[in-house]
Amino acid sequence: MDRQAGKKRAGEEAAKYVERGMTLGLGTGSTARYFVDALAAKTADGWHLRGVPTSQETRRQAEAIGIEIITPDETTVIDLAVDGTDEADPQMNLIKGGGAALLREKIVAGAARRFIVIADKSKRVAALGAFALPVEIEPFGWALTVRHIRAALLGAGFDGAGVELRAREGAVVKSDGGHLILDCALGRIDDPANLDGTLKAIPGVIETGLFCGMADMIIYADETGVSIDQA
Ligand code: 5RP
Repeated sequence: MDRQAGKKRAGEEAAKYVERGMTLGLGTGSTARYFVDALAAKTADGWHLRGVPTSQETRRQAEAIGIEIITPDETTVIDLAVDGTDEADPQMNLIKGGGAALLREKIVAGAARRFIVIADKSKRVAALGAFALPVEIEPFGWALTVRHIRAALLGAGFDGAGVELRAREGAVVKSDGGHLILDCALGRIDDPANLDGTLKAIPGVIETGLFCGMADMIIYADETGVSIDQA
């Protein structure tokens, strides 16, 4: 499967749901990037669009094509949020956060009237968990938080879970909000909503990459076509 072709097609398909004058939640990652690319034709045609970006990277891209950038606090309405995902199950639960933007992505998706997820077809899985679950945590007391997370995962039946502080090229990764990201290798997650609640009850945990019951539509694509899951 040509995954890039799938991402591009999914992004272009989602752009068909955008209407003139909308305020958009703009996700982060390579698939979301294709969606923003597809909006360039609309702004070039004189459409006024406002965007609430979920990362600095998306902000720069959206600004460059003439989308008016606003913060979530400058609007009471986000008409449509569009974002990628790392995994999605048939119940439309997601694991997100591969790009370390999960907190802002969840705030924006949760505030939107409609949340459309875009993905190449390889992202659709029978059960979540092959992708390590990102968890965003506060830097203060992070090692203590990690100990609590390990204990909670053991208590929830995830024996042997790997919990790693995300680092790239020797440097600890921080979210745009200055938080740390843990990647939790869990294996199959049978009850994602319950796990989300368990982890968020731990002091120091800011957000998890489990997006449960949030997506209204998932657009999957590959080079041959598109398929849609709907809530
Ligand atoms: C960023 C995300 C991304 O949406 C997710 O990682 C998918 O990325 P890509 O579209 O590059 O495959 O959650 O935090």
